Amino acid sequence: MWIFSRYKDYTPLWTDVASLKQANRAHALRILAILLVILVSVWYNGYLIAKLAKKWPTPLDNYQQLNPNPLLNDEFYQSFKSPTHDETAVVTCMYTDSYATAIATLGHSLDRVNSTATRLLFYLPEHVSSEALCIATATGFVPHPVSRIAPPHNGEGTNKRFLDAYSKLNLWTLNDAGYKAVVHLDADTLVLRNFDELFALPYRFGAVPDVYVGSHGFALEFNTGVIYARPDTAVFRDMMEKMQTLSYDEIQADQAFLNQYYAASAVRLPYAYNANLAIKVRKPAMWEDLWKRARVVHYTLVKPFLAEADNSGETIVPMEGLEENIRARMGEFDGVFEEELLEWLGQWKETYAKYGEKLKECEGKVGDV
Ligand SMILES: *[C@@H]1O[C@H](CO)[C@@H](O)[C@H](O)[C@H]1NC(C)=O
Repeated sequence: MWIFSRYKDYTPLWTDVASLKQANRAHALRILAILLVILVSVWYNGYLIAKLAKKWPTPLDNYQQLNPNPLLNDEFYQSFKSPTHDETAVVTCMYTDSYATAIATLGHSLDRVNSTATRLLFYLPEHVSSEALCIATATGFVPHPVSRIAPPHNGEGTNKRFLDAYSKLNLWTLNDAGYKAVVHLDADTLVLRNFDELFALPYRFGAVPDVYVGSHGFALEFNTGVIYARPDTAVFRDMMEKMQTLSYDEIQADQAFLNQYYAASAVRLPYAYNANLAIKVRKPAMWEDLWKRARVVHYTLVKPFLAEADNSGETIVPMEGLEENIRARMGEFDGVFEEELLEWLGQWKETYAKYGEKLKECEGKVGDV
């Protein structure tokens, strides 16, 4: 533009005054337009930032101890015909030996709350020892061998810790064995209160939303540590077929698959059915309320029966070493889980007091599972 040139103050030798005026005007208009754009953009950005700052946190991050009411409407629930124990099952899975004592304790915790459902232990015969199977089934779980369900694409996209985890999906075939409603509990859970009401749900699938200590926080996705389902072999076949082509985060294995499959049709269960230790770190006030009514506590961050801080479960903690193991892990996460770990220890001690003879007989057991 000529106006910025160093000749701008020179008077041209010959002048077309009219066109010069016109050019000046056009230039002024351009400057004005640019200023206007800048002004609008500053205002709009300010507006967006203010809006963002005013956005409410989720009601969970904003948790306030408000609602003292029990989860169930007892009058309504009592009017239900309770499902019979042979039509309902509590299922857990054992993929490696290091979870055997956890499953024994889980079985005892079900006894304590008078759970009446049949207890089934899914296991992969090729992956567990007879000693571990003996320990895991000492407190009421019935051994139920299942075939391994391979992850899609030969497990190439799957976290190597979850390569066997799809075997959990055998849950959906249990209608063939006469079960109408099942609850699956991960082996790293402990039952604190009876949850029989789950078996009366009319829905096909329910689970509790997941919780992370990091930025993901209270997630929309559910955690598959506790699953309520109405088994249905037709659903199982549909899953097996679609798993091969479905697009989802395969690293997270069966959990991501189920989240994708039940994306818009899962019932969100209250956190009391899967009280994930991560909640205590994320929102202590929520945990305080939760602990008073939790049905199932999920030892996600610190597993009292495993030795490694990363919960890899590569070594087996022997029964007589469990207490020492728990005390050694109590300092993790600045010691916030002391009460929960002591709860597990207390229940393990009860288990051993009641089933010690039987458990000791399992030690060194060899042979086919
Ligand atoms: C379990 O049943 C026993 C015997 O009927 C009863 O005394 C106890 O209170 C029950 N426990 C729970 C947690 O319901």
